[in-house]
Amino acid sequence: MNTIINSTAVVPARASRYGWFVCLMAALAGLLFGLDIGVISGALPFIAKQFTLNDHVQEWIVSSMMVGAALGAVGAGWLSWRMGRRYSLGLAAIMFIAGSLWSGFAPNPAHLIAARLLLGLAVGVASFTAPLYLSEIAPRHVRGAMISAYQLMITVGILAAFLSNIGLSYVADWRWMLGVIAIPAVLFLLGVLALPDSPRWLLQRNRTREAKAVLQRLYNNPDDVDTEIREVKAQNAQPKQGWGLLRTNSNFRRSVMLGAILQIFQQVTGINVVMYYAPRIFGLAGFSTHEHQLWATVIVGLVNVIATFGAIALVDRWGRKPILYVGCAVMAFGMAALAFLLHVGIADLASRMWAVGSLLLFIAGFAMSAGPLVWILCSEIQPQQGRDFGIAVSTFVNWAANMVVAATFLSLLSWIGESNTYLLYAILNVAFGVVVFLYVPETRGVSLERIGQNLMGGKRLRDLGKAD
Ligand code: BGC
Repeated sequence: MNTIINSTAVVPARASRYGWFVCLMAALAGLLFGLDIGVISGALPFIAKQFTLNDHVQEWIVSSMMVGAALGAVGAGWLSWRMGRRYSLGLAAIMFIAGSLWSGFAPNPAHLIAARLLLGLAVGVASFTAPLYLSEIAPRHVRGAMISAYQLMITVGILAAFLSNIGLSYVADWRWMLGVIAIPAVLFLLGVLALPDSPRWLLQRNRTREAKAVLQRLYNNPDDVDTEIREVKAQNAQPKQGWGLLRTNSNFRRSVMLGAILQIFQQVTGINVVMYYAPRIFGLAGFSTHEHQLWATVIVGLVNVIATFGAIALVDRWGRKPILYVGCAVMAFGMAALAFLLHVGIADLASRMWAVGSLLLFIAGFAMSAGPLVWILCSEIQPQQGRDFGIAVSTFVNWAANMVVAATFLSLLSWIGESNTYLLYAILNVAFGVVVFLYVPETRGVSLERIGQNLMGGKRLRDLGKAD
């Protein structure tokens, strides 16, 4: 697993073409995740107008998806163990299709909230299962690239949703905006039907012959297949514990806590406030027409995609902590600048441009740091015997925190005011930097076995990546 990072770009790929096809199909889950995150910001103003909704109901339409996703992430651990990763992804695809159609045809806000809850379940199951499945089917030399492909797909999905928001805004029909996601969801379902079972999952069930057949199709090199089977079998021999380990082992509790804290701080950067409410923020910043607000939002999506490539390129050279420091500083600066501009008032074109610039700076800071790195770190810091459990907890916390932020944003705006709301996020980004300094280990180039040994040996969290 330490090859996750080292392998992102330079190491020759040993996956077969079929392996890359499988990766692409599984990463499509990220695309749907991104589409569902991105589409609501464009659709919400139309929904609010049609049903004359107050802020509170609007917040619930946005955040019901997160409630579902948090529940889905919890259930996904059991589901993907019991039914297998492929069936979990298939179930997620079916829920994506049903949820998209339901939200498109929703007769009233209650149906819309319920449909978004179902979509959330799909997103929760997919956001736990897809990276796990990818890490299990990927040859170790390209594992990092394959997991990064998933994060990249999330940002591409968000951008695609922002673009479709524009197209469909001309026909002013939110039902199409939400319902159209059923089309990529059907493609995802067809893709999942073509996926093999995870070889690791098959080996856990002693289905060695089937696992070998899958690995032979995924890998180019037959030696890799035998090595992989040996190593997976050795790992399976270790007793795996979730709750039991958490109750009895205080060292494991520390890594679970750190995973949860990292995901909380990823969310309180304010990223999804921008993702869900971008047109509204641009409205506050002086973009009066809905069309202009949507175009400005597309630029947000584009910067999000482009800066993610930056993270992929830099993560091996700079290491995790320096990137997070730079990211936190940039995010804090972007939010503080926005707070300042809103405080003094955005009256002319120049200050409007500054406001857009501040927001884009914030997005770039997130996408090159906290976005991908928190997911990477969360998978690196858990010891082998508690990895699935630890990742399930941090994935759950990601969605729970996402929900709290989305559900409180509009209330915060009216409670402490626009400017102070962004100032609060700026302060939280500085706090994130402090947490990185105090608790986050530098894991660049360090094997997962070393990190696990250090953790279980009682080393300080920030020293988990140290050699001795
Ligand atoms: C976060 C999401 C966010 C997305 C934006 C992910 O890493 O977990 O909450 O919407 O990045 O690109």
